[in-house]
Amino acid sequence: MRVLGIAGSPRRGGNTDLLLAEVMKGTASRGAEVKTIILNDLKITPCQHCDACFEAGRCRINDDMQMVYQELEQADRIVLASPLHFMGVTAQMKAMIDRCQALWARKYVLKLPPLGDRRERKGFFISVGGRRIANLFEPALATVKTLFRVLDITYAGELLFPGIDEKGAIAKHPNALNQAFLAGQELVGE
Ligand SMILES: Cc1cc2nc3c(=O)[nH]c(=O)nc-3n(C[C@H](O)[C@H](O)[C@H](O)COP(=O)(O)O)c2cc1C
Repeated sequence: MRVLGIAGSPRRGGNTDLLLAEVMKGTASRGAEVKTIILNDLKITPCQHCDACFEAGRCRINDDMQMVYQELEQADRIVLASPLHFMGVTAQMKAMIDRCQALWARKYVLKLPPLGDRRERKGFFISVGGRRIANLFEPALATVKTLFRVLDITYAGELLFPGIDEKGAIAKHPNALNQAFLAGQELVGE
């Protein structure tokens, strides 16, 4: 079982990083092979809507996203972690998601499996936001669930914490990090 964690925050060691690390530890404790990608360290050009992927089934932009495609293809579980930035996922995460247009083209234009094979994949979403309002996570959830649906990744759950703003605030939450560890275990369980 291969688990890919994708960190979308620019803040290293911040709240979503801490939660993602616990989810990954939980999966590793059940024997999973884990890898975490830090999007902020990568060069991912935003989608140029050139439609080259409609014929090639792959993106013609040769940057770090090529490595991310490979990691997505090899993963059985995919954990996306992003804080809210202006109600959505971070720009780093959105650039990665938009580049999955090449996988959309594979599926809907070329009628191929978006991730190369038809094994069951499951996806999990981690987010935090500083505010406390109703439906805080709905816009980000719509984006993430759309990505997972397009990539034929079953939505397996989420951890969403409002009212978390300062760096490291999540560590003061009574049980968030423990919830994250347990969610990781569950993600690779039956
Ligand atoms: C550019 C920017 C935009 C933000 N927009 C929102 C927002 O729309 N709603 C919200 O609840 N918090 C917002 N926040 C607060 C972050 O979501 C919050 O500080 C979070 O804990 C950061 O998580 P991190 O430590 O994983 O980066 C924003 C922060 C930044 C820097």
